[in-house]
Amino acid sequence: MDTVFHKISSLTPDPLVIAEAGTILKRGGLVAFPTETVYGLGASAYQEEALRNIYQAKGRPSDNPLILHIAELDTFYELAKTLPESAKIITAAFWPGPLTVIVPRSERVLDVVTGGLDTVAVRFPSSLIAQQVIRAAQVPIAAPSANRSGRPSPTSAAAVKEDLDGKIDMILDGGDCTIGVESTVVDCTTTVPTILRPGGITYEMLTAVLKRVDIDPGLNGDSLAIPKSPGMKYRHYAPVAPVLLFEGAVDKQRQAIEKQAMAYSGQGKKVGLLVCDEWQYSLPPVAVLATFGSLTRPQDIASRIFRVLRSFDHKTVDIILAQGIDEQGIGRAVMNRLRKAAGHQVIKV
Ligand code: TXA
Ligand code: MG
Repeated sequence: MDTVFHKISSLTPDPLVIAEAGTILKRGGLVAFPTETVYGLGASAYQEEALRNIYQAKGRPSDNPLILHIAELDTFYELAKTLPESAKIITAAFWPGPLTVIVPRSERVLDVVTGGLDTVAVRFPSSLIAQQVIRAAQVPIAAPSANRSGRPSPTSAAAVKEDLDGKIDMILDGGDCTIGVESTVVDCTTTVPTILRPGGITYEMLTAVLKRVDIDPGLNGDSLAIPKSPGMKYRHYAPVAPVLLFEGAVDKQRQAIEKQAMAYSGQGKKVGLLVCDEWQYSLPPVAVLATFGSLTRPQDIASRIFRVLRSFDHKTVDIILAQGIDEQGIGRAVMNRLRKAAGHQVIKV
């Protein structure tokens, strides 16, 4: 299939392009569009065939459920069977925005969306393009990240094209995503609401409005617990080359990474380094360097992390040594993605 490609302004989206996207979605087609987090691959939540095509285009396992995107609150009441108190509180505080809530599902939600679970994931994005696309389609829009399954999520239209050109009807290019990691997924069906995936809305932000918030123990690589969010059990967010992640004090990481880089390059391996801006002029010249931003600005690191991971695919390295960052605020989401990209191959220094 030919994929139609349109550039579109994120501040004043062209109504004709939005209408065209709406028409494609209404007739069961697939449209990739930007959100504030990452690009999404959208289909009508009420058309089973279209939903199956999402799994097909992404190569996604069918037991991994989809998030339904809405652009007005009434739709939330239509999709949820009941609204837990915690869901009311956090959606009031953080919607529209990078927050997804898991709530009991209503009869309107199709089984293909939830993979047979009795809950549904709902998100109200703040991106203007995303909101307008959803309104033009006049239905909730199921939208996973617009990447091939297992690859780093796309934060630009070029990354979507790399993975899905020829497999979907349309790509809207609204520029780079601002947040750069996916939404925070919070299960509101448990007595204490639980973070299933750290993301744009941080643990600290959630605890400012809720008395208690748990973090799914399955998110911690050391634990034997099985993640509650089906999507978190797969190796994920990964560039083509294997990633080895370092965690610990900054100067110790620095020593360990340098030593490891020298050792690998001594074995004739082409080494990629994924490190902070602060190190960029002082590392040994044995490696292909990509920097993810300054340690003083974790927001910048989040917005660049997937792009930098993808950039290694064009540099054909044999192994990537990645620096870990502080697990605070948005840093928790960054570290979660890095650990998954590393398939939990972590060296603690
Ligand atoms: O920021 C985002 O959330 C992006 C943009 C496009 O909105 N979307 C996104 O979707 O990241 P996706 O499909 O890549 O990730 C959805 C995550 C998966 O880990 C999935 O397992 C989880 O949400 N999920 C969906 N429904 C669920 C449910 N009922 N219970 C538990 N986890 C669920
Ligand atoms: Mg994804």
